[in-house]
Amino acid sequence: MATKKRVLELVEIEQLFISKDCTIKDAMLQIQKSGFGTALVVENRKLLGVVTDGDIRRAILEGTPINEKAARIMNSKPIVAGLGTTKRKLLEMMKGKEKGLEPGMYMKIPIVNEKREVVDLAVFTEIGKKKEPSPLFLTKSDVKRGKLKKILVLGGAGYLGSVLSRKLLEKKYEVRVLDNLTYGEEGISELFGKKGFEFQQGDIRNIHDVVMAVSGADAVVHLAAIVGDPACKIEPMSTIESNYLATKMVAEVCRHHLVNRFVFASTCSVYGQSETASREDSETRPLSLYARSKLDSENALLEMEDESFGPAILRLSTLFGLSPRMRFDLVVNTLTAKAIIEGKITIYGGEQYRPLLHVEDAAEAFIACIEAPIEKVSGKVFNAGSKGLNVKIIDIGNEVKKAVPHSELEISREKVDLRNYFVSFEKIEKELGFTAKKSMKDGITEIKKWIAEKKINNYWEKKYSNYEYLVNLNNGKGK
Ligand SMILES: NC(=O)c1ccc[n+]([C@@H]2O[C@H](COP(=O)([O-])OP(=O)(O)OC[C@H]3O[C@@H](n4cnc5c(N)ncnc54)[C@H](O)[C@@H]3O)[C@@H](O)[C@H]2O)c1
Repeated sequence: MATKKRVLELVEIEQLFISKDCTIKDAMLQIQKSGFGTALVVENRKLLGVVTDGDIRRAILEGTPINEKAARIMNSKPIVAGLGTTKRKLLEMMKGKEKGLEPGMYMKIPIVNEKREVVDLAVFTEIGKKKEPSPLFLTKSDVKRGKLKKILVLGGAGYLGSVLSRKLLEKKYEVRVLDNLTYGEEGISELFGKKGFEFQQGDIRNIHDVVMAVSGADAVVHLAAIVGDPACKIEPMSTIESNYLATKMVAEVCRHHLVNRFVFASTCSVYGQSETASREDSETRPLSLYARSKLDSENALLEMEDESFGPAILRLSTLFGLSPRMRFDLVVNTLTAKAIIEGKITIYGGEQYRPLLHVEDAAEAFIACIEAPIEKVSGKVFNAGSKGLNVKIIDIGNEVKKAVPHSELEISREKVDLRNYFVSFEKIEKELGFTAKKSMKDGITEIKKWIAEKKINNYWEKKYSNYEYLVNLNNGKGK
């Protein structure tokens, strides 16, 4: 049997209004049109009463003609909530109303201001039932814009965020990016002024910035962080603030704003070292502050899961490939650029396993999460990657060497990265139908092409490496 999950939503209310002169038939038509099982009888938005499907059915059975005024059969003393009632209180009120309702039926409470004018309708619906529509996008903004939904991308100017934002825009979502532009605006400057794109420069550690950004969003993708083991070590307190504490605060803000769809970027490096294929429920062994901060955030988010907040976690493989905010501190990208420009590929160790994923496929994994019915992703963790891209570091060296034959492959036994994990991606494939489309060769080829076309050749510049850039900034040297 499907698990019971409940989600609280606010819906666009004007579609539910009927005037006091409307007939029962008008109410029936309005209810059919909105699909919410309720019509609100109002005079200049002032609530006079509520007519439900049930009221109409009973009236008809009692022989009331459908051209009678709907006001005759309405409940003139419905339960209402005052403006500013907290989401938790609303849920309690809803639970009180639950008895006697048919399973799967919407439970609704009009929210009114001090003049008893209707300002919202809170809808509490049980999901996970077969015919139940996924309620995620039954939000105000969704009804207004039809299929267009607003996705807030935290860290949307970054390596992954700038690719994801473009894909979302292509799919006709509205996109709002909140980013403090740590590494500059190169990743998104091309999007400024584009229809459907909004940029807010701000910090996820600043509650005011977060509240502004979350307000009006239908879903949040949280990518903003200090990314990578070396970058996180520079200022540990800053890492904890940005990666962990801010994540908890952002999630609280989302809960408060009834933004229940939340997808968090974690990392497969939470597995640290594993002998066998790590599944989502395998033991975690974070070997760095970065991985620890991500794992702690995952746990905090999952603990917060409730009727009105459905976090999903994507544990990403190491990414590669081109992005408008390019990173050359990622193994495939670095080795390719070094091989082409310096004629050298240096591998440290080489026998360690590392799962890879093209940055565009990673963006698709986030979209798959956003678009899946919420019960499939809420409170769930998914490894994001591809079985075929579980490779040894030496395999990366060999693939780059194949693409850049003039380069020399050198294996160093110094500075060997202890991380060694082989990851299972069965869950994301089975449950979300996600499979990676791009191979390591595709990524190497596109970088090679970019360099050949002279679109990039200064791969060593600090802005392409999170660690180099931040350590320099930290030493007060700026760019
Ligand atoms: N790239 C990878 O290989 C990889 C692998 C696993 C997980 N991830 C995760 O994916 C996400 C995106 O990674 P990326 O490669 O795009 O990194 P990135 O460093 O390119 O992007 C991070 C973005 O977040 C922004 N940011 C950082 N701190 C901020 C703050 N306090 N307020 C507002 N914005 C802030 C930065 O300006 C940047 O634009 C991260 O959460 C990362 O941990 C990435």
